Amino acid sequence: MNSTTAATTETNPYVEFWNDTLADKFERFREILMNGLSYHSRVPLERLHVEPGSRIVDVGCGWGDTAIQLARKTGPDGFVLGLDCVDRFLDHGRREAEAAGVDNVRFQAEDVERYPFEPNFDLCFSRFGMMFFENPVAAMRNVRKSLRPGGTLMFIVWRTIDDNPWFGLPKQVVLDFLEPPGDDARTCGPGPFSMADPEVVEQQLEIAGFEDVRFERIDGPVTVGASLEEAIRFQLAIGPAGEVFREAGEEAERQRDRIEAAMREALAPYHEASGVVMPSSSWTITARQPR
Ligand SMILES: C[S@@+](CC[C@H](N)C(=O)[O-])C[C@H]1O[C@@H](n2cnc3c(N)ncnc32)[C@H](O)[C@@H]1O
Repeated sequence: MNSTTAATTETNPYVEFWNDTLADKFERFREILMNGLSYHSRVPLERLHVEPGSRIVDVGCGWGDTAIQLARKTGPDGFVLGLDCVDRFLDHGRREAEAAGVDNVRFQAEDVERYPFEPNFDLCFSRFGMMFFENPVAAMRNVRKSLRPGGTLMFIVWRTIDDNPWFGLPKQVVLDFLEPPGDDARTCGPGPFSMADPEVVEQQLEIAGFEDVRFERIDGPVTVGASLEEAIRFQLAIGPAGEVFREAGEEAERQRDRIEAAMREALAPYHEASGVVMPSSSWTITARQPR
């Protein structure tokens, strides 16, 4: 699929990058990305009270697992719209929802930054789908338009790379061999740590028109591979280490064996019976649409 989606036709280079570069890699590591990192949504979603019949939008919903969880929470009188710019991710959600008999969720391929929202929703949710916008404040302002007066935004973002050794340690390993990416590196947008600073994010949300901004820190385990070998493949494909590796091109391939050996040594202490399990930390951020 190209970057042209149902309601949004303008080209967004980050949306193109998601589709032509990241989507294949994300599909390859779906189990890790969807389930291995799910501690960070499980905790806030277990606590979240959803009024039966609520209308919910899940932005950057990926494979749709959180959209389906929310559809169950809101019940048959409610509705969930899952939006993502990669249609093949959404196909997975469509199949899962059908197999589970959940029929109050719909998945639509859109660029969330530009989607013409109507204020139809009581809750706008996102797990790790808000950190990649071309223009974060404009995107948040647009996302706010989805909410009725008094509606709630709840989204999950990573805290800093230092608080997330599962990102930081592998990046350090590859940087022992390769140069950091240049300023002209192709990326998926501002990146996974772009919303790590609460002061900056609170300001961005307030400029975008939200009020009552709150942060809850969630620390917990992530499973970054069922085996050491899978964890190494994952780290060299995705995230900060994957970006250094990808941008280094032929040089990275030339040094692959040495880098893999170093990565194996670095990740081995985290290898346990259930897989490679590492510490991680996120913010669950809530904010409100003014009444
Ligand atoms: C890190 S993934 C998170 C996916 C899912 N929420 C999860 O937790 O498994 C980020 C998601 O945001 C989507 N995304 C990035 N920029 C987007 C945009 N401008 N509009 C819609 N979706 C976007 C990507 O396609 C990707 O599925």
